[in-house]
Amino acid sequence: MQLSFAFLTLLGLVVASPTVEKRAQPAGIDVSNFQPTINWATVKANGISFAYIKATEGTTYTSPSFSSQYTGSYNQNITRGAYHFAHPNSSSGATQANYFLAHGGGWSADGRTLPGALDIEYNPSGATCYGLSQAAMVSWIKDFSNTYQAKTTRFPVIYTTTDWWTQCTGNSAAFASTNPLWLARYASSVGTLPAGWSYETFWQHSDNASPNPGDADIFNGDAAGLARMAKGS
Ligand SMILES: *[C@@H]1O[C@H](CO)[C@@H](O)[C@H](O)[C@H]1NC(C)=O
Ligand SMILES: *[C@@H]1O[C@H](CO)[C@@H](O)[C@H](O)[C@H]1NC(C)=O
Repeated sequence: MQLSFAFLTLLGLVVASPTVEKRAQPAGIDVSNFQPTINWATVKANGISFAYIKATEGTTYTSPSFSSQYTGSYNQNITRGAYHFAHPNSSSGATQANYFLAHGGGWSADGRTLPGALDIEYNPSGATCYGLSQAAMVSWIKDFSNTYQAKTTRFPVIYTTTDWWTQCTGNSAAFASTNPLWLARYASSVGTLPAGWSYETFWQHSDNASPNPGDADIFNGDAAGLARMAKGS
């Protein structure tokens, strides 16, 4: 996933990527079919601890790179998870959770698999909130989340921005006590969180993870915390 550069430019939000530095918090990346071939041994050697990998979009798209990325990262002992790009305009949350689950988005308690993430954000080609009211959007997300939880025992991680969440859910606090937050903000700090969450679990702080592929993320904790997050303990 990647917030549209044009959109960020429009808002004057483009900032320099934070300089690469050694961080105590585990570093991660998120990738999609934009990075079809990845040398995971190099990524691991570069100090990356976790990766979120795009599996699906709506009910019409599965990433052709998903399987190799999901397996390749796992084989290098990189904690991996799958994500789904929501199309709340085209079918119910339950339908899309089931599609995600049927195409690699599941979870297992092996300690190296993160719960699936729902990427819910700016519509890349249409009304920002996909034509849904704030109440309908909250219901859609609940439907996705509850369906995923019923099948996996884990609540999905929610990837979003504070701006989108405020516009499109009315800054709903309904998920803060159940769903881990993965916040996107390309700046030197995570900034204001959506209502209810007192901390983010993941922060996507840049759309450039160079020298690694994809976007750059940080886990808000230490390595043991990341392992607990994966395990669900
Ligand atoms: C895999 O990573 C975990 C967490 O960093 C570490 O504790 C473990 O020793 C690693 N296992 C191998 C085989 O490298
Ligand atoms: C829903 O939105 C997605 C993303 O913009 C778009 O690709 C798709 O065509 C839309 N589907 C419908 C049924 O409007």
